[in-house]
Amino acid sequence: MTPTMMVPRTEPAPSPPRDSRQELLAALRALRPASVLDVGCGVGALLRAVAADGAVRGVGLAPEEAAAERARAAGLDVQPGRAEALPFADGSFDVVTLEYVAHHVEHLPRALREAARVARRAVLVLDGWYDEALPSQRVMRDLDGWRKRIDRRLGMVHNPCPKPYDLIDPLLACGPFEIDYACRLELTPRPLAELEAAARRHLEAIAPAPELAAELDRILDDGRLHGCTDAGTLLLAARWP
Ligand SMILES: C[S@@+](CC[C@H](N)C(=O)[O-])C[C@H]1O[C@@H](n2cnc3c(N)ncnc32)[C@H](O)[C@@H]1O
Repeated sequence: MTPTMMVPRTEPAPSPPRDSRQELLAALRALRPASVLDVGCGVGALLRAVAADGAVRGVGLAPEEAAAERARAAGLDVQPGRAEALPFADGSFDVVTLEYVAHHVEHLPRALREAARVARRAVLVLDGWYDEALPSQRVMRDLDGWRKRIDRRLGMVHNPCPKPYDLIDPLLACGPFEIDYACRLELTPRPLAELEAAARRHLEAIAPAPELAAELDRILDDGRLHGCTDAGTLLLAARWP
């Protein structure tokens, strides 16, 4: 028998799963850019999709030279650099994208200022998002925050997912952007036993931390009560008028 998640009835029914990366790509394509800078491009999935569009010049930015080199070996134009200090002149690209990167940068307002400076037409940001009005989302948000505290102890920059205003305020400070955003909620239930096993493994990566162990127990108790549902997404487009 499938275990039942205790999601309170006050929560809306789950929506069919959507591919938020495809939504970012669709938003990008709708702008018909001639050039795109993908900041924190990872293995270059977005760049590959952009390259498949033909006439678009796609450039990636990766913080470590080794990652940039690997991407170049795969035929992508990827340059080393950090979101907070983009190595490009003002207005070098039609569109600048940050796909699941905003929660990794050390100084988000600075990274957004840089994206706004380098983008001629638009900045697109995709990241995780939690609907804090819903108990099962608060559980997942707390678990996400807990994992990121461990990551930070391990030396990684791993911040909470940005809220819309974390993106909007710094972008509007750069100029009269037209901003449009959508927060997407899917409410896919996550099995608590799996999440707990992964969390306990994660906790073993650092020196014994009783306060983090106690915090995990509290989050798991909340999870047993309310269930735990996957992160939603925030997709924001900021266009120069
Ligand atoms: C979750 S991955 C997302 C990768 C890719 N954008 C994707 O969606 O598949 C986060 C990426 O951010 C990059 N990153 C971390 N800190 C960065 C920084 N300060 N500037 C630019 N990229 C950064 C990492 O190298 C990593 O590739």
